[in-house]
Amino acid sequence: MKYLIVANWKMNPQSFAKAERFCDLIKKKLKKSRKAEIIICPPYLYLPIVKQLRVIKTGAQNCFWEEQGAYTGEISLAMLKDLKCKYAIIGHSERRRFLNETNQMINKKIQTALYAKITPILCVGEKQEEKQGNKTIAVLKSQLESALKGISKKQIGNIIFAYEPVWAIGTGNACSADEGHVIRLLLQKIIAEKYSRQIAQKARILYGGSVNSSNVEEIIKQAGFQGVLIGKASLIPKEFIKITEKVAKL
Ligand code: PGA
Repeated sequence: MKYLIVANWKMNPQSFAKAERFCDLIKKKLKKSRKAEIIICPPYLYLPIVKQLRVIKTGAQNCFWEEQGAYTGEISLAMLKDLKCKYAIIGHSERRRFLNETNQMINKKIQTALYAKITPILCVGEKQEEKQGNKTIAVLKSQLESALKGISKKQIGNIIFAYEPVWAIGTGNACSADEGHVIRLLLQKIIAEKYSRQIAQKARILYGGSVNSSNVEEIIKQAGFQGVLIGKASLIPKEFIKITEKVAKL
């Protein structure tokens, strides 16, 4: 299985022209790799630009659970499919925090994405105060259990998990390889309890939170994650290319 490098552009860059320029800058340097799959998740508006980069797949940063109709401002999975989107990030902590996304909404999005054959990248992670209060296990368990409500053994293999501790996002303070290793095993244990050990061992679990070209190797090699979800560093062309090169050499 290839390592996954998922770029989450969030609400950046500020114009179509800047998105085009970014793609021009990385186009020649991005190489197809047998080791890594690169997925770029730009704002919806820039999906057609990013799609032109041949060696990558595209993903959305969100989706809605209804197929069509009177849902002002929302984007359906059918629309994403039409733009050849293969993935959708679901349950990112910024959406949970700023848009009041609940576990129940996240569950609906996961169900609909699976039905539409778009691979959900389900984000879970504890906040700083939850970590300090020794609540990490309880938080991850509850987020996973509610997001996976009604998801069958057959479907679970089509979900990608991303451990994104909120305290590590955008702070420059990534989770250490040792800590990451423990959490990865914990997530596998939760999945094993709900499904089976075999399913848990095959589960693809990524790490996100201040990933850069200096820490990406240890996150994958030492902590054992199957890839990374990158915010800030994915918007710096040289740095992003460097990350893809490092993962391609693992
Ligand atoms: P960061 O963001 O790499 O800027 O910490 C990661 C994310 O929010 O997915």
